[in-house]
Amino acid sequence: MTNISELPTPASLVDLDKLEKNLREMADLCRENKKQLWPMVKTHKSTQIAKMQLDFGAKGFLVGTIDEAEKLVECGFKEIMYAYPVASKENIERILSLAKNAHVILSFDGKEAASKVEEACSKIGLYIEYLIIIDSGLHRFGVAPEKAPELVTELKEFNHLKFKGIATHPGHVYAKTSIDEVKAVAEEEAQALHIALKYLEKEGFTVDIIATGSTPTAAFAAKDDKINILRPGNYVFYDAIQVALGIVPEERCALTVLATVIAHPREDMIIIDAGSKCFGLDKGAHGVSLTTGYGIVKGHPELIIESLSEEVGKVRITRNTNVKVGDKIEVIPNHACSCANMTSFLVGHRNGIIEKVLPVDARGGSRIPMLK
Ligand SMILES: Cc1ncc(COP(=O)(O)O)c(C=O)c1O
Repeated sequence: MTNISELPTPASLVDLDKLEKNLREMADLCRENKKQLWPMVKTHKSTQIAKMQLDFGAKGFLVGTIDEAEKLVECGFKEIMYAYPVASKENIERILSLAKNAHVILSFDGKEAASKVEEACSKIGLYIEYLIIIDSGLHRFGVAPEKAPELVTELKEFNHLKFKGIATHPGHVYAKTSIDEVKAVAEEEAQALHIALKYLEKEGFTVDIIATGSTPTAAFAAKDDKINILRPGNYVFYDAIQVALGIVPEERCALTVLATVIAHPREDMIIIDAGSKCFGLDKGAHGVSLTTGYGIVKGHPELIIESLSEEVGKVRITRNTNVKVGDKIEVIPNHACSCANMTSFLVGHRNGIIEKVLPVDARGGSRIPMLK
């Protein structure tokens, strides 16, 4: 089998030319603006794509789960930041044990989780670096920028934790509806870090890392003179949400799902053999949706994926179409990060010619817990 059109469906595909262009462009943006690139691996959860990111110039990785961190370290990757606080005894043990073979940086936004990590570190004589999460408007984790010195001062009592810097994620950008609004979020993102930095330096703290990350704001953050690390995730694939936000044109989307039309029950409706267990149910984030349906059907603007069952999707025909039962269609998912998490591998192709398979080998639930 050489062509994607011969694949059994549903199949999750990645266009390698587009993937490489996306990786190269972000790496170049960082290099030209003297920023380190630490991509967030939750988008692809694939050690092969992580390796490609390193080859293009990434310095390390941001992980969203300990599964991702374990898999990366197992494959020999040495520079890992964990994006979120860790608080259970079991997960603290897991993340600390990685620090034997890799440089691991943790993240905190309060004293409770930090005290648990301190306790575990003191038992094994381990010292670990951490970042303070700054809230730049997402209102998820984080301290207000001007409160950063207060928290770092509190954490000074924990001898095994070493303050390394500050980080934010302006995820509320996904609730915006225009490029002007995206730009305004990028300004908030930079401002939050600037204020935290100013207050911390005033109190005499050395701030080595000033990190942020989101795909829509990356081009703006790269131009900031204080931010020194970018941690975007979604740029690897892009998706229908990024297209709707005006970040990239449709042609830049590297991840697609190939599906077959399996029924034509009504004149204005066809059914495909891919559903929510392929695409995910994302329509947008934070209650805002700029997308139409559950993805973009490539080359067929007359088709709208109206609703998804688990394994099949209902597609409305809005105008004349030549698509018939037995045909295959290719769909750009709304949210590539969720879509890639639904499969164990991606079929890599160039212009439809299959080149290789990329395992999605760092997913959650892919590791059997050690039972005592
Ligand atoms: C802390 C953090 N940093 C960076 C990212 C990457 O954002 P994006 O996928 O928009 O590039 C995320 C995404 O969830 C995140 O939670």
